[in-house]
Amino acid sequence: MFEYLTAAPADPILGLADLYNNDERANKINLSVGVYKDETTKTPILESVKKAEHFLLTNEISKSYLPIDGDIAFNIATQQLLLGHENERARTAQAPGGTGALRIMADFLARKTKVKRVWISNPSWPNHRSVFQTAGLEVREYQYYNPETHSLNFDAMMNDLSLVTTGEAVLFHGCCHNPTGIDLTPEQWQSISDLALKNGWLPLFDLAYQGFGQGIEEDVYGLRLFAQNQPELLIASSYSKNFGLYNERVGAFTLIATNSEIADRAFSQVKTIIRANYSNPPAHGAKIVSHILNNEELKEEWINELTNMRQRIHRMRQLFVKTLQDKGASQDFSFIVKQNGMFSFSGLNEEQVLKLRNDYGIYIVNSGRINVAGMTLDNMSRLCESIVKVL
Ligand code: LMR
Repeated sequence: MFEYLTAAPADPILGLADLYNNDERANKINLSVGVYKDETTKTPILESVKKAEHFLLTNEISKSYLPIDGDIAFNIATQQLLLGHENERARTAQAPGGTGALRIMADFLARKTKVKRVWISNPSWPNHRSVFQTAGLEVREYQYYNPETHSLNFDAMMNDLSLVTTGEAVLFHGCCHNPTGIDLTPEQWQSISDLALKNGWLPLFDLAYQGFGQGIEEDVYGLRLFAQNQPELLIASSYSKNFGLYNERVGAFTLIATNSEIADRAFSQVKTIIRANYSNPPAHGAKIVSHILNNEELKEEWINELTNMRQRIHRMRQLFVKTLQDKGASQDFSFIVKQNGMFSFSGLNEEQVLKLRNDYGIYIVNSGRINVAGMTLDNMSRLCESIVKVL
């Protein structure tokens, strides 16, 4: 029966990794998938992570199953990192990466609640649409970005959000919006929170880059405001980027309900979804995170490492804008310095992106999204020269 299947298109982000790996040009540059790279283009294992792994290697005494909702210390530490404290209205389940957490969210909505429609930003991470649709939900888009000004189109966003009705859900990027790098101000978060309360729709948060925007506390301003003001909220969070634990698949799904008793009931339904899906999560990555977050010294070391990653990306943003100018770019790219997180939404169109890939071995996502973390002092000059040539 498989002979009837047609080939699926390559994934718009992960599909580029194969193309890049098969490219034999020595000076190729990979600015596609959202993975941090250091000045030597390596994706390092953090020192704090290495130390936690060493601790686990010598102290772990069993590889028995974790509970359905994962490691308890990890779940508590996650609530503390996200919300500032353990919250009696919140329940957290360890999840296999941020995507795994999103899929728990989507399945929970589709199968256990009356939600039939989810709104995502335009543009958004392409997998958002796939995850919600695969779970059986209808996906609609709200406007977010103004390509002419390279900034947030807040009026259009609020206009679209005012169409959302009770019983629908809206997904927000907690920080470092992927792909635009444009985040909301405290006042804008407040207006959206007021609108959600007035119209009775359910807010959803995807938080994959905590610490990559302004700092681990600053980056959850909107999330904490919503956690305080909204009766209900769902959060998918990831430790792939801020702990560099990409292939360990560590994330969390957090549910906030009106009160503790409702949270318990709703969370019991979440657990049935997990059980029927992957039974219970893998331990190693979550134990690394919980060991670091529960150890003062290691936590401080991790925060320093995260700060270094954030600052390196910020320096590369500045150098990118300056080098483009020095190489004679006629357009103003200064908006790139104002964007948050790993990505720069460059404004390059698909034709220019394909020319960069084919003629210069520079890999950028077709939408024009550039992973700034792939830039180094060594590749900056060639990168900017090539971009100026295709402009
Ligand atoms: C990205 O947006 O590049 C990352 O989140 C990796 C992924 O899974 O797409």
